[in-house]
Formats: sequence, structure tokens, C-alpha cells
Amino acid sequence: MSSILRRVLHTAFNRPYSKPTHSCGELNATHAGSNVVLAGCILPERKISNRLSFFPIKDFSGTTQLVVRRDNHDQPVLSSLSRVPVESSVLINGRVSVRPTKDRRPSPTGDVEVHVDSFTVLNPAAPVLPFYPSDDQAIVNDELRARFRYLDLRRTALANNIRQRSHVSRLVRDALHTEGFLEVETPLLLKSSPEGAREFLVPSRLSQSDTPLFYSLPQSPQQPKQLLICSGAIDKYFQFAKCFRDEDGRKDRQPEFTQIDLEMAYVAWGPHPNAHNNPWRIGGHEVRAVIESLMGNIWHNVQGIRLPSSFNVITYAEAMARYGSDKPDTRFALEIQNITSLLPHHHQSSLANLGQVLETLAIRRSENLPFVRADDQYQLTDEPTVTRIVLTSTNLLTWLCNLVSPAVDPEHHISLNNVLKVNVGDTLYVSRRHAAPKGGATPLGRIRTQLAESAQNLGVSDVILIVSWLPHLVPGDYVPPAYPHLFTHHPFTAPMWQDITAMYDGRIDEVRGQHYDLVLNGTEIGGGSVRVHDAAMQEYVFSQVLQLDESEKASFDHLLQALKCGAPPHGGIALGFDRLMSILCNTQSIRDVIAFPKTGAGTDPLFKSPATVTNDVLSQYGIQGIRT
Ligand SMILES: *[C@@H]1O[C@H](CO)[C@@H](O)[C@H](O)[C@H]1NC(C)=O
Ligand SMILES: *[C@@H]1O[C@H](CO)[C@@H](O)[C@H](O)[C@H]1NC(C)=O
Ligand SMILES: *[C@@H]1O[C@H](CO)[C@@H](O)[C@H](O)[C@H]1NC(C)=O
Repeated sequence: MSSILRRVLHTAFNRPYSKPTHSCGELNATHAGSNVVLAGCILPERKISNRLSFFPIKDFSGTTQLVVRRDNHDQPVLSSLSRVPVESSVLINGRVSVRPTKDRRPSPTGDVEVHVDSFTVLNPAAPVLPFYPSDDQAIVNDELRARFRYLDLRRTALANNIRQRSHVSRLVRDALHTEGFLEVETPLLLKSSPEGAREFLVPSRLSQSDTPLFYSLPQSPQQPKQLLICSGAIDKYFQFAKCFRDEDGRKDRQPEFTQIDLEMAYVAWGPHPNAHNNPWRIGGHEVRAVIESLMGNIWHNVQGIRLPSSFNVITYAEAMARYGSDKPDTRFALEIQNITSLLPHHHQSSLANLGQVLETLAIRRSENLPFVRADDQYQLTDEPTVTRIVLTSTNLLTWLCNLVSPAVDPEHHISLNNVLKVNVGDTLYVSRRHAAPKGGATPLGRIRTQLAESAQNLGVSDVILIVSWLPHLVPGDYVPPAYPHLFTHHPFTAPMWQDITAMYDGRIDEVRGQHYDLVLNGTEIGGGSVRVHDAAMQEYVFSQVLQLDESEKASFDHLLQALKCGAPPHGGIALGFDRLMSILCNTQSIRDVIAFPKTGAGTDPLFKSPATVTNDVLSQYGIQGIRT
């Protein structure tokens, strides 16, 4: 900094200074006439004339308008406020006055301004900063923002998200404590286990010289929390759990993330006496009741919205059939129709022989108006099993003939069009798929989602759903290849009591799990299950269903042992806290609700991690370094 500037700045480096009397966001008309001391960052000057300037001053709580008049020659110092670099920390002495009516702003401090008597620069900002967080118009690239995250956090929107996150975590803690939950921390340094996604390993200096030893960071506190309940000492546990997943950079995923994790003892395993085959009443409804009340509480407090006191429940099979998705967006009525039974009999039986169904998604000109527009612009790509047909007077009574053979006669088309309520101008997406759905979405479900993404005005309110009875297992199609099946959830989920025989008979595809997902507006925000508490069944799942070998099974020994010690039946759920916050803060990315997030690629430009360490350090862990 130039010596001239330093002289005029009245810098209070390392000198005592007085305590602020108010925060910048606190002042209002009731303070008029008081002398106040404010501390905050000085924002760009708005110069009205040589004698009059306005400066906003901003701290964690808000912004107050400062007024600087230079007509009083006894206070030459005030003119130097113009030379204080923007974003410097300053201390202001001044007097509050009510603004002229015409100048009032609707913000909390908008009725007042503070006339500056004197100021002290507590810490000057550099004359040029990487970017200016108060400048909403500036286009700052993401890399720069990430590298100077502490500066970016000065932006009001981002700072508000972090405050909101703290507010919600307090709500959650209060609500769960009130319901008798205990907050318990579980270890972050755990042991590698063959459960699913890739883990972060942490080398330990306990390593033998030739055999490095590793901890692994948990993907979720699944095993510790179950063991906690198995102890019988705690009947309701929760934690804001840090979870780690070493995934390839995926859009809007973070390698470390936070879950609201909870587990309860003695949750119902079988059907409720009044179940009446209602999926809601079967298995773990105590857990879901906690979630309903928790979500209701958050939505009421943060959004000012009353959610229904109980959420709709839909089975996986129904969700896949009607919406083509295991996290259906039911804000809009557009539904997939199974037209198999409307086909001539010989087509029905040949589809049945192939184990297939024929289904359609109809976009009708007469309704679904937002979808008609989305459909007009839709490019059908990457869905080889789907045919898009725009009905015309030429194909109205023949459209099915290109899709099935032998040809279907016009009379049949007439009745089919009647049932589908379609006519000339409407669009049909037709798909033939395996009758038993697998995974997260069917081809028509994906198209439904894509159309919804480009359609406007989908509905008016939040729709929260619980999807239950998910397939217990899906055929393994990814690591570890040794396992013939991969759990939809994890290997501790209890099978539906009706499907236990099928499981012991080896008909794994028919087994549904006592699993439930929480879905908001088509986004999954949590999932949980009732767990297996019978050691023999858990052992069967490990050895017969997952076909783990002895050493892999050994990594679950402690859990089997704990179940054998008379563990209470239990179940739980985990909500993605980052996702939940991004919804509540109305942001696109979970990075906007995390103070120091990683980039999409999993790197941290601020702390510059991950980073190399020297071979010397590696050798302390028994790890051979890279030869150079
Ligand atoms: C003005 O500030 C006072 C003191 O902080 C506070 O009690 C009062 O509620 C505020 N008034 C308004 C209208 O915000
Ligand atoms: C579709 O309809 C056929 C014939 O009624 C039926 O057998 C099949 O279970 C249905 N499939 C789905 C996925 O709804
Ligand atoms: C859910 O969808 C409704 C209707 O489109 C919308 O008003 C609401 O803001 C959405 N809620 C969230 C949390 O995204």
C-alpha cells in the first residue's frame, strides 16, 4: 500500500478499538438519534456530489447505508473514506437518522441511514481483489470462486444458505431430542468393507514395515449405528453423519457429504394388525412417522408450508408401472399406460411368452398443455426401444402395425384410441420392455422426466411420497464382480415377510425389501429400511445370496455376533442433508449449501487437495513411494 494512502487511512493495526454497539442488519427507525458504532466491510461508494457520498457497510447480519458529508471542514478525514479499498474491514462511529420517505427501502435497515462522524480502518483489503462478492453483475468463473471461497462466502445469498443450514440443523436436533433420540457420534476411522461404492482409505502408521494397514472412511455409519441399537443401551439414535464416497466425479455429488442418520429399536418388522395390505403399515412405520413429523416441522418453520400429516405411499411396482421411475414426480398427472391387455389375444400371449409388456405415454393436445409444448421440442435420442408416433389422419387406425406383427386391424385401433383418449395431433411414445422392471427408471419413465424438465408450471405444491417394497436385490452389474447380486439398499435390509420363502428358495428376483425411500418432487432425499435382526438369516444372505467368501464374510463377524446377543429388532433411515438444504435454499447445486465444498471433479482448489506427499512420509506408512 502506498505511504500516502497509509497516512490517510488511520489504520488501527494492532491498536485497541471500541466494540460495535449494533450489527449492520439490526438498525431500524427505533434507533433514530442514537450514536452507534458499527463494524463491517465497506462496499463501493455511491457518490452524489463532491460533498455527499453513500457507502453501504455490511456484516454477517445485513447492510446499512452510511452517509458521508464533506461540508464540515473540521472533518477532513471523511473524504479519505473514498480511498479505503472496497471490502476493507472498517469501524464506523455515527448517528442514526430516519431516511426521507422517498428514499426508504423495503429491506430491514431500509428506513435508516447512519451519518458518519469518524471511522477506523481495522484491516484494509488489497486494492485489487480476485473478484468483488458484492458485485452481482460481475460474471466470475466457478474456478475463481472456489479458489477464493472465503471471499465468495461474503455474498449474501451464499452466507444466507450457510445460516439457513445451521438453523435447520438446530430444528432437527431439537425435534429429535424432543422425541427421545440421543445424538451419538460414531467413528470416522473404520474398516474397509465390501458394501458397495468405493471407499477412501487412510493409511496408518500402525502398519507393519512390509504390510501397510489402512482405515477406511465410512460411506455411512450403517454398521456402527446398528451395533449401537444392538447394544440395547440406546433405543433411538441420531447423528449428523459425515459420509465419504470415492466416486468418479458425478454431477452434483460430493466425495464427503452429510446425512441426518437415525436408527430405532423395536420397529415393526411384520405387518401392522390393521395393515389391510397397505404398504404404509408394513414394516418400520415408526421410522416413517418420525420422518413425517420431522419434515413437517422443517417445512412449517422454514417454508411456512403445512405438509400433510402422513405422506402417500406407493410401492416400487406401482411407481414403475405408472410413472416409470423409482422416484416418481407426481406433481403432474401424466401417467404411463400398460396397453398389453388391450391387444389382440395372440399378441398378448406372445408378449407374455417373452416376459414383456407394451406401454404408452400419451401427450394429448386437449390436456397436459405444458407437456404439449415440451413434446413439440423434444428430440427422442438414446431410447432405442421407444417409438414416437404423432397421430395423423393417415396413421390413426394403423399406428400399432409398425410395432407388432401380425398387423392389428382398424377396429382394434378404434377401441385402443378410445381407451387411450387420443386423436389426431396427439403424440404417443410406445415402448416394449421387460415386465419385471429393474433399476431406477423405465424408458418411458426417462422420457416422462425429460419432458417434465422442459415443461413449465407443473403444479402448485410440494409433493412428498414414500416409495416402498423395493426389490431386495438387483442383478449385479458392477463392482465387485464376484457378487452375483447387488443390493438395492444394503445387505442388512430385511426381506418382506411374505417373500422370505422365496428368498430361502433362491428366487431372489421375487424378493422385495422392507425398504422405503423418501421422494420430494421427483428427487430422492432419503432412504432406509427395517434391518435383518436374525443372525441366521443375515448369515444366509451373506453366504447364499451375496455368495461372499469366508474372508469377506469375516468382515461382518462383529455384526453377526451382535445379532446373536439378543439384539432388538431395529430399523432406520438416512436423509441427505446437503440435498435437503439445497431444496430449502432453492439452489441448483449442493455446493451452494456447503461452506467448503469440493468441485464436481472432487478436488478442492482452495486447500489444493488431494495432494501428493513425499516418499519419506509414505514410507512411514509402509507404502512404497513412486520412484523418481
Ligand atoms: C427495531 O429494533 C429493535 C431493537 O433491536 C427491535 O426490538 C424492534 O423489533 C425493531 N423493529 C422493527 C420494526 O424491526
Ligand atoms: C401389463 O398388463 C398385462 C396384461 O394385463 C399384465 O399381465 C402385466 O402384469 C401388466 N404389467 C405391468 C408392468 O403393469
Ligand atoms: C415442488 O414443486 C412445486 C410445484 O412445481 C414447487 O412450487 C415447489 O417449490 C417445489 N418444491 C421444492 C422444494 O422444490
